[in-house]
Amino acid sequence: MERGWILLVAAVGVYVASGVQGIPNLSFSNNTQVNISKNGCGVTKLCVQTPANCDPAGNTSCLFASVISSTPVAPNGSAMSFQLRGESVGYIALGLTVNASQGTTMLFICAQNSSNNGSFFFQTMDQNNTNGVLTPTDRITTEIRGIVNRNVIKCEFNVPNVNASKTRITSPTTFSLLLGTGTITGNVLGPFNISLNSGLLNLANPASNVPTTAPPTVHTTASSSGAVQPHAMLLLLSVLTLHVLLRA
Ligand SMILES: *[C@@H]1O[C@H](CO)[C@@H](O)[C@H](O)[C@H]1NC(C)=O
Ligand SMILES: *[C@@H]1O[C@H](CO)[C@@H](O)[C@H](O)[C@H]1NC(C)=O
Ligand SMILES: *[C@@H]1O[C@H](CO)[C@@H](O)[C@H](O)[C@H]1NC(C)=O
Ligand SMILES: *[C@@H]1O[C@H](CO)[C@@H](O)[C@H](O)[C@H]1NC(C)=O
Ligand SMILES: *[C@@H]1O[C@H](CO)[C@@H](O)[C@H](O)[C@H]1NC(C)=O
Ligand SMILES: *[C@@H]1O[C@H](CO)[C@@H](O)[C@H](O)[C@H]1NC(C)=O
Ligand SMILES: *[C@@H]1O[C@H](CO)[C@@H](O)[C@H](O)[C@H]1NC(C)=O
Ligand SMILES: *[C@@H]1O[C@H](CO)[C@@H](O)[C@H](O)[C@H]1NC(C)=O
Repeated sequence: MERGWILLVAAVGVYVASGVQGIPNLSFSNNTQVNISKNGCGVTKLCVQTPANCDPAGNTSCLFASVISSTPVAPNGSAMSFQLRGESVGYIALGLTVNASQGTTMLFICAQNSSNNGSFFFQTMDQNNTNGVLTPTDRITTEIRGIVNRNVIKCEFNVPNVNASKTRITSPTTFSLLLGTGTITGNVLGPFNISLNSGLLNLANPASNVPTTAPPTVHTTASSSGAVQPHAMLLLLSVLTLHVLLRA
C-alpha cells in the first residue's frame, strides 16, 4: 500500500506580502517516480549524506542530498537542481547558508501532511541562524516533485537563481549545505534540527567534497577561494570561472 503523491508545480514565483507562501498550479498524479541514488556523485553532482556513505536507494536510514549547479551568470547567479531524501514523519530539509551561526539559511522543505494521509508538500523558509526562527518566504522554485512512502520522503526541485554573493563578497556558488529534519504539528513546522553541516563547498564543483584529505568540515573554506585541487578540467574550468567572476 504505497501512499505516494506527486506534486508538480510549474513555478512558485508569487510574492505574497504577508509572507505566507502561495503555491499555485498544483497538480497531483500517482505512480510518478522520484529516483534518488548515488549515481554520478562526485562526478556530475555534488552529494552529501548522513550517516557517512549511506545509500539513499537502500533500505537503511539515510539523509541524502545532491546538487547540480550551472555556471553562475550575473546578475541572476546559478540555476541549481536539488534532490533530497530522508526519513521523517514531519519534514526533511536542505539549507543553504554562508555561515550556519549567523545570518540566515535558505531552507527548502519537503514534508508530509499527517492530517492528509501523509501527502507530500513543499515549502521554502528562511531560518534566522541566531535564534532558529523560521519565516515563510517565496523563493522561486520550479519543477518540484515529491513522494512520501511511510516515513521516507523523496523530492526534487530546481532553484533558478542562487547567488551567495548577495550576502558577502565571495564565490556566488559557495555555501554550506545543511541537512536536517523537523516535526509538523498541525500546520506548524517545528525547528530545523540540523544533522549535517557540510562546511563551505563550491556547489558548482561536484567533487568539492570528495575527500583528498579529510571529510568535509568547516575547514573546506579553501575550496571557495579557488584553491587548486588539480583533478579534472571540470574543476579547472569552474575555478577559472570563479576568478573571472571575482575580478568582475
Ligand atoms: C525510476 O526508476 C525506475 C526503476 O528503476 C524506472 O523504471 C523509471 O523510469 C525511473 N524514473 C525516472 C524519472 O528516472
Ligand atoms: C534491505 O536490503 C537488503 C539488500 O538490498 C536486503 O537483503 C534486506 O532484506 C532488506 N531489508 C528490508 C527490511 O527490506
Ligand atoms: C551576485 O550578486 C552580487 C551582488 O548583488 C552581484 O554583484 C553579482 O554580479 C552576482 N553574481 C552572479 C553570478 O549573479
Ligand atoms: C535574470 O532573471 C530575470 C528575472 O527572472 C530574467 O528576466 C532574466 O532573463 C534573467 N537573466 C538571465 C541572464 O538569465
Ligand atoms: C560565522 O559566524 C561566527 C559568529 O558570528 C563567526 O565567529 C565566524 O567567524 C563566522 N565564520 C565564517 C566562516 O565566516
Ligand atoms: C486516506 O487513505 C485511506 C486508505 O488508504 C483512504 O481510504 C482515504 O480515503 C484517504 N483519505 C484521504 C483524505 O485521501
Ligand atoms: C535574528 O534573530 C536575532 C535575535 O532575535 C535578531 O537580533 C536578528 O535581527 C534576526 N535577524 C534577522 C535577519 O531577522
Ligand atoms: C535532532 O535529531 C537527532 C538525530 O539527528 C535526534 O537524536 C534528536 O533527538 C533531534 N532533536 C530534536 C529536538 O528533535
